[in-house]
Amino acid sequence: MLEMIKESDLKVLITEEELQNKIKELGKVLNEFYKDEELYVICVLKGSVMFTTDLVKHLKMPLNMNFIRLSSYGSGFTSTGKVNAVDISLPNLNGKNVLIVEDIIDTGLTAKFLIDFMHLNFKTKSLKFCSLLDKKSTRKTDIEPDYYCFQIENQFVVGYGLDYDGFYRNLPYIGYLETNE
Ligand code: IMP
Ligand code: MG
Repeated sequence: MLEMIKESDLKVLITEEELQNKIKELGKVLNEFYKDEELYVICVLKGSVMFTTDLVKHLKMPLNMNFIRLSSYGSGFTSTGKVNAVDISLPNLNGKNVLIVEDIIDTGLTAKFLIDFMHLNFKTKSLKFCSLLDKKSTRKTDIEPDYYCFQIENQFVVGYGLDYDGFYRNLPYIGYLETNE
């Protein structure tokens, strides 16, 4: 049985305003990079749902939105270290500009799985990886995001799509649990 975290026990790490400002900035960078070229966005469910939907509202090119579902975390704080493809049905992405949108890069195993999957199945025109958060110190692969909004320390965060046992995804900010260490 996992213990519930009370929302009142959460400390704010990144405010809603900070998130929205950075996402708007990233939107500008992507508009500049892709100009008017068609873009296929892949939202990695469930964690990047908030980030993706806010980000695409700033994008001005012809945009095709896709959703895939993976899971790597078990329940709670610890990663299983194994990536499972729960639903990965995608259109034909040969010759397309593809942008994978993730909530967080932790070990990088999910990112590596996705990038390998794309290379194995498609000859894309371009393939970029974008993550809202980057937990740099816990990386177990040599994967780096092409774009990220915030680098964070090795701490478990929730909110704005990120969950603890399925909860807290709805929070408009990123929070963390303060421990007594
Ligand atoms: P990776 O494969 O270890 O890079 O982990 C990627 C996935 O683990 C993310 O897409 C999240 O779903 C989950 N994850 C990693 N760190 C956190 C966290 O601090 N809070 C909530 N989920 C996390
Ligand atoms: Mg995720």
